[in-house]
Amino acid sequence: MEDNINSKDIAVLTDFIKKKPIFTNNKKVLEFEKAWSNWLGVKYSIFVNSGSSANLLSIAYLKNKFKRGEVIVPTLTWSSDVASIFHNNLKPVFVDIDLKNLAISFDEIKKKTTKNTIAIFLTHILGINGLTDEIVKFCKKKKILLIEDCCESHGAKFKSKKIGTYGFISNFSFYFAHHMTTIEGGMISTNSREVYEISRMLRSHGLVRETRNPKIKSYYQNKYKDLNSQFIFSLPAYNVRSTEINAVLGLNQIKSLNKNIQKRNNNFNFFLSRLDKKKYFTEFELKGQSNYAFIIILQKQFRNKKFREKFEKILYENKIEYRRGTSGGGNQMRQPYVRNTLNFNEKDFKKFKNTEIVHHYGYYIGNYPSLSKSKILKLTHILNSV
Ligand SMILES: Cc1ncc(COP(=O)(O)O)c(C=O)c1O
Repeated sequence: MEDNINSKDIAVLTDFIKKKPIFTNNKKVLEFEKAWSNWLGVKYSIFVNSGSSANLLSIAYLKNKFKRGEVIVPTLTWSSDVASIFHNNLKPVFVDIDLKNLAISFDEIKKKTTKNTIAIFLTHILGINGLTDEIVKFCKKKKILLIEDCCESHGAKFKSKKIGTYGFISNFSFYFAHHMTTIEGGMISTNSREVYEISRMLRSHGLVRETRNPKIKSYYQNKYKDLNSQFIFSLPAYNVRSTEINAVLGLNQIKSLNKNIQKRNNNFNFFLSRLDKKKYFTEFELKGQSNYAFIIILQKQFRNKKFREKFEKILYENKIEYRRGTSGGGNQMRQPYVRNTLNFNEKDFKKFKNTEIVHHYGYYIGNYPSLSKSKILKLTHILNSV
């Protein structure tokens, strides 16, 4: 990523700071939340200090509502999607992905759904829409809550609507290299007033004074008369607030978001058009995409250690930074925080065939709006020459 925070952002931030405003979570945070809800097309949003905090609060909401249960999660996702399920003492149930969109497979979801399933935590990978009609209908029919991790896919669409508007809750990250940034930051979006109120409390120590619903306030104040009304902690919670400074940056960044998404998509389409299809898999379902990074998956006949080593050596020699495994380092079951908790071994990992392909032979390389065509051409030339 280059220049994700530009001189205009810096000027806006400097002007704000010079006014000596309140710096902690205040009016600018609310303004940014409103702007985000309008851009996305939902009723409510809650600004937090990272996408991982958004994940954590979503699952904490589930814990508070259901107390126990299983959460279906793809094996290809980010660590905090799974860790937040552990932190809340719920059970992660792993499901393989489809290669065409790198998202959770509906056929596998059906096999793993039980009477204890309370939610499906779907991740949209690297800007590709992961939703299908079947998944949306299945969740409705079975009364399973759909949570969308959109941290890598701001602005991607399923049918005519943006992803993040289909789920009961959706999460976004504004970390530095994402589609827009607040340096660190994240958002929870929802149409549920209940999720909104509870998330506001969960974000801020569980404090009842954080709710914007007077009924909730009077409920607690009347029930707990021995407590100071400004100091009632309703739930075991966190402090994952952000600040006015980050919100001011977000408000300026959101203005360029649509334009930057278009540039990212143009870059990726150009990249794919130049890539040697005999060596690299390119048959992704890109309808509605909002590309995050260049996705590279070796074709079947090149899925061996020798080719992989050569591929990585050439990238290294050309000073091209990459991530093997794509999102979150590939198969989450292989990561120490999961395998050591649930005692998984090689036999377990291998059951997740598509994730295993991405884990061993999938990569991403950064894409960003100011990336030049000549650099993309140079990159594809290097890749094709391996
Ligand atoms: C799919 C996905 N979910 C969650 C996160 C966590 O976001 P953050 O880095 O803001 O905590 C990331 C991070 O990039 C991600 O890629």
